[in-house]
Amino acid sequence: MLEVSTSEALREQLVDWRHSSEHIALVPTMGNLHDGHLSLVSLAREHAERVVVSIFVNPTQFGETDDFDQYPRTLERDKRRLKRVKADLLFVPDVETMYPFGIDNATSVTVPVITAEFCGVFRPGHFDGVTSVVSRLFNIVQPDVAIFGQKDFQQQLVIRRLVDDLRLPLQIVSGATQREADGLALSSRNQYLSDEERAVAPTLYSVLQGIGNELQAGKRNYTELEQQAMDVLSDAGFDPEYVGIRRAENLQLPDRDNDEIVILAAVRLGAARLIDNIIVTI
Ligand code: PAF
Repeated sequence: MLEVSTSEALREQLVDWRHSSEHIALVPTMGNLHDGHLSLVSLAREHAERVVVSIFVNPTQFGETDDFDQYPRTLERDKRRLKRVKADLLFVPDVETMYPFGIDNATSVTVPVITAEFCGVFRPGHFDGVTSVVSRLFNIVQPDVAIFGQKDFQQQLVIRRLVDDLRLPLQIVSGATQREADGLALSSRNQYLSDEERAVAPTLYSVLQGIGNELQAGKRNYTELEQQAMDVLSDAGFDPEYVGIRRAENLQLPDRDNDEIVILAAVRLGAARLIDNIIVTI
């Protein structure tokens, strides 16, 4: 696996691959790679001859009270894992490469409306940070396809909107959420959980499944279902931020049957903020 840290070195390598008519897939990450990330690398391989993985803990998507300083940085272990799944190139830029004019002077990219709810409310500025860094990565790598995890459901919709709206010439592909045997979605933040909290954490997924079953049984009282789920999560020991039942296509309110519905939630549990979602057809 090649490893580069500057955009110049990266471009040099990509030119060679493009000359050989090889397609390039990008898997953007913040490192601390788990099996969920590795499944995205394998998915990338199905879409392109060459797979580039970026690792950059992006400061602009963390709020003042977020876990930027604590965010686990495990580069050597990440490299071993990436070699195992045969990533072709690891791009590990520093802050100056990603934000050449400095963070405070950086151009910011905003996707409106779809960022205004859910995680956008509880993490103000977060999506601007994501779309700003992802735009930079797209410009530097110029991939044919980029892969994002479905666990960050709102994020992948925001990025799809960014790509559609700016007519960026690449395809966005979503990879299925990977779970522990008890249903907990894999996340770098799971390691903040104490043993006791870890035992409670899978309840989040079972609550989402419970709503899915109710919807499939014909229930359509969305607000009530959301509120009930918030209560169950509170009783289980979570501090829930939101539970939403929306159209998977655009996060708008469900308005008809035979629709793909996403049920999405975010909770705090001790030091961890957990998000998860499932999709059901009603
Ligand atoms: O999902 C993530 O890990 C990050 O938000 C991303 C897309 C790599 C941007 O920093």
